Amino acid sequence: MSGCPATARASSAPIVSPTESPSIPPSGTSSPHSPKEFTMTDTANGLLRLPAQIAFGLNSLDGLAGTVSALGRRAFVVVDPFIRGTALFGEAMESLSAAGVEVAICSEVVAELPVPAVEAAGEMARAFAPDVVVGYGGGSAIDLAKLVALLARQPSPLSLYYGENKVGADVAPLVAVPTTAGTGSEATPVAVVSDSERELKVGVSSPYLVPRAAIVDPRLSLGAPGTVTAYAGIDALVHAIESFTAAPWSAAWGDTLPVFVGRNRLSSLLALEAASTILGSLRTAVSSPLDLPAREAMSYGSLLAGMAFGGAGTHLSHALQYPIGALSKTPHGLGTGLLLPYVMEAAFAETMPELAAIAVACGHRGGSDEALAMQAIDDVRSLSKDIGIPNTLAEIGITAGQLPRIAELSLTVKRLANNSTLEPTHDLFMTILEAALTGDRSRLSR
Ligand SMILES: NC(=O)c1ccc[n+]([C@@H]2O[C@H](COP(=O)([O-])OP(=O)(O)OC[C@H]3O[C@@H](n4cnc5c(N)ncnc54)[C@H](O)[C@@H]3O)[C@@H](O)[C@H]2O)c1
Repeated sequence: MSGCPATARASSAPIVSPTESPSIPPSGTSSPHSPKEFTMTDTANGLLRLPAQIAFGLNSLDGLAGTVSALGRRAFVVVDPFIRGTALFGEAMESLSAAGVEVAICSEVVAELPVPAVEAAGEMARAFAPDVVVGYGGGSAIDLAKLVALLARQPSPLSLYYGENKVGADVAPLVAVPTTAGTGSEATPVAVVSDSERELKVGVSSPYLVPRAAIVDPRLSLGAPGTVTAYAGIDALVHAIESFTAAPWSAAWGDTLPVFVGRNRLSSLLALEAASTILGSLRTAVSSPLDLPAREAMSYGSLLAGMAFGGAGTHLSHALQYPIGALSKTPHGLGTGLLLPYVMEAAFAETMPELAAIAVACGHRGGSDEALAMQAIDDVRSLSKDIGIPNTLAEIGITAGQLPRIAELSLTVKRLANNSTLEPTHDLFMTILEAALTGDRSRLSR
């Protein structure tokens, strides 16, 4: 299912000298390169936070009733309002009724998840007292379902749970059914909301928010419009590349690990496969919405990217998007996708082996580590352009005068700002933002 842009060069020189010390192979045995060709700096430690069951594949939705009824007889279903009207959703609900599951449906999914809407949905769920919650839709519906599963069992207000590791274990089991290929929320421990008291979106992150089961059926994203596909899909690529290029694991083993521990041995396997798969399929998924192999590849890639970043975390594109999204009112994926190539260039020297590994996983061969790493950035840039991601912050209405405040706010999102290989400083963030404002990359490190 993987494969990258048709621009791949065709020679087979290793990306580093064989005399350099090998370390952990970045991908599985199906990878097109020998593990000894790499000098990546992964630690020996690994961490994944995953659902108890992940079902992936065409028609896997047929397993919904069995999965839900194994968890209880009363299901509170949070569904995207558009998706609620689709035939497949109707059939899925009929299958639940046929299995003897009593269903309550909530389709009050408001974009960006304003907190009052989340509290209201939580209140409805508490009144219904579900055994199980189902999240069916894009990342917004699944994130809402995660928080409903929390509020169905634990007290309001939601602000009690902002940040990391504030959620106790008593959360209703959640079955996540994504209809976009992007957020990976079906496999992650985080949900993101907008609190009008704060200038930034806020994350609620806890291992207990990981869905109990995920059902990833590529049929559900078939036919989604180009912009939905592009913004969700590029976000999945950002998850893959940022978890692969995050600061290596440095957490100490202890009672409570941070929710996001940085790049690690297990996440890297998934992240590299995700990056090459998405780079090879997103263009087609956007240009040909009914292309089933491209949809399958995107669902697979975004799932793997979610599995990777659910433990490793993401970094600077995400930290910078939070205030940019709030100011420009642009979709999450548009912002992270716009920023990604600038962030990759800013950390070019620190992440060259990883960037080169991405290029090799995409089939590029020959040249130095540096040339391959540049190729990876070029591939990302050309994909973004082809699927209509704006190239500059100016195009989405951000002005030079807003940059210092954006940098300041981004620095406060510590779980993201501190997860880069670069030291998070106001100067660094301004350099990236200034480059992204106009597209002038001359001050970035490459
Ligand atoms: N929890 C996580 O791990 C995580 C990660 C990244 C992003 N997010 C969050 O996810 C949200 C974005 O999610 P998203 O990109 O999936 O978009 P979304 O859920 O906000 O949906 C975007 C639009 O696409 C439509 N849509 C969804 N599926 C469709 C389909 N199959 N066909 C046609 N239209 C469809 C929706 O009706 C909506 O209008 C943001 O709130 C972001 O903060 C969460």
